[in-house]
Amino acid sequence: MRRSMIAGNWKMNKTSEQARSLVQDMLPLINLYKSVDVVVCPPFTSLMVLSAILSGTSIGLGAQDLFWEAAGAFTGEISAGMVKEFCNYVILGHSERRAYFGETDNSVNKKVKAALAAGLSPIVCIGETLAEYESRETAEVVTRQIREGLKDLDPTRLQALIVAYEPVWAIGTGKASSGEGANRVIKDFIRPTLKVLFGDSVAEATRVLYGGSVSASNAPEFFTQPDIDGALVGGASIKLPDFAEIVKAAVK
Ligand code: PGA
Repeated sequence: MRRSMIAGNWKMNKTSEQARSLVQDMLPLINLYKSVDVVVCPPFTSLMVLSAILSGTSIGLGAQDLFWEAAGAFTGEISAGMVKEFCNYVILGHSERRAYFGETDNSVNKKVKAALAAGLSPIVCIGETLAEYESRETAEVVTRQIREGLKDLDPTRLQALIVAYEPVWAIGTGKASSGEGANRVIKDFIRPTLKVLFGDSVAEATRVLYGGSVSASNAPEFFTQPDIDGALVGGASIKLPDFAEIVKAAVK
């Protein structure tokens, strides 16, 4: 049985003061749902303050990126070890990083390896663009993103791996995939590719989240699907009570 997970991708929103206040309001609403793993991923600048507030609570903390080198002359970058000082999760390969910051399957692969080596759980984002969706390339794209992005991983660390299927056309557009459509991509292409790479038991045990315009109203549609283990939530993750409603919908 895979535990449900709801991760909030705050993107470039909230100062650390605003983050503190949002999480303090969130805690009493989320603490009720212990059977769901809830993670919030604020900007780097809020990790320190939130790690203090969240320690000993049921809400986990994650970053939104990292750089694969351990230390050195990489101005502006943050290593896996630095992230791990404050949190246990990291979003990697988000489509906004691929679209605006030159992230490739190869760079995602290096980051995933660095995250696993540091003891972090990477939430690795994959998904097709609108053009790829319209030209029926979804299977090919997600298969390539997994094969390249997740190649040669340390087999002893795979229980930390989390995958998020986020069709790019659904992110921030208000046009979510259907629950059935997302489940089909995960069942027919994502888990079978994980199986080829890592074998049956890892493919079955790995949590695969859906992301893209998840809201309090459409959340139940996703969480009743057998292959969807939760959600990576963007816009609604910094709204209350919406985020708490989404977590509630994920209770099995
Ligand atoms: P959205 O973003 O929920 O605002 O569509 C999801 C994401 O970018 O992870």
